[in-house]
Amino acid sequence: MGKEFRLFPEQASVLAGEIDKLYFLLIGMSIFFALLVFFLIYIFAVRYRRRSEDEVPRQIPGLVQLEIAWSVIPFILCLGVFAWGAKLYYEAYTPPEDALEIYVVGKQWMWHLQHPTGQREINTLHVPKDTPVKLTMATEDVIHSFYIPAFRIKKDVVPGRYSTMWFQATKVGVYHLFCAEYCGAKHSAMGGSIIVMEPVEYERWLSGGGSDETPAVAGERRFQQLGCLTCHGEKPGARGPSLRGVYGSAVVLQNGQTAAANMEYLRESILQPQSKMVAGYTAIMPTYQGQISEADVLNLIAYIKSMGKTGSN
Ligand code: CUA
Repeated sequence: MGKEFRLFPEQASVLAGEIDKLYFLLIGMSIFFALLVFFLIYIFAVRYRRRSEDEVPRQIPGLVQLEIAWSVIPFILCLGVFAWGAKLYYEAYTPPEDALEIYVVGKQWMWHLQHPTGQREINTLHVPKDTPVKLTMATEDVIHSFYIPAFRIKKDVVPGRYSTMWFQATKVGVYHLFCAEYCGAKHSAMGGSIIVMEPVEYERWLSGGGSDETPAVAGERRFQQLGCLTCHGEKPGARGPSLRGVYGSAVVLQNGQTAAANMEYLRESILQPQSKMVAGYTAIMPTYQGQISEADVLNLIAYIKSMGKTGSN
């Protein structure tokens, strides 16, 4: 980090440069038009000043071409900025399919992070360079916001749902991580660092240190502890639907509608099982809202996902 003075955070992700270009365009346009207005005020004040006490100025009717010009030019500029912004927004919030998925759980006042291979970290995240990384984020309590200025990404983590965003780091280094939503007494301390490493170094880092359970294995353990298998078994006539292959499938609900079994759906089905009942089953599953943590839910979903991979469906 050093003591060097900089006006802007470093550009350390694929998107950072693009976002800054749009930002500088906006600043440039604002400065240009502000100067233009001030310049014209000055020119007109001098040029059309009253020269004698009894001077009556000539009447000037409207000029259609001028009116069209000052309507159409700003309109085109604004549409251009809008289109560029929309494109960047879409890119920033659409993670590539093959991205490395990191689970993020915010909690007053720290960030819990977990790698797909199970390694856990608090307030520090190691990531490989030149690799797309997707963050799936939840919060155990209030709204937090995951903010990495050097990557130009920030997203609120809102209770009751998953937020996702992604980045691809371009430079090895250590970058600030902040919570950007006021979340209580120690909000300002809720931050840490993102450590970008060469992919080889990252692999070495992953293999070193304690071998944590992968989210799927932790989920399986929790699945057994909670006795989910009692109902969600494989046997015919089970009281709950089988979960094998359910992730990514289309589930037919009692009201005749279908639901895409994505992370959001599975989360809701665990926490509020009655809200989207699968056709052919009765509402006997207890609600797990407030009974298990967001980290548990993420692990359970990781386990259900893993069943889909090995099963024949
Ligand atoms: Cu968490 Cu501010």
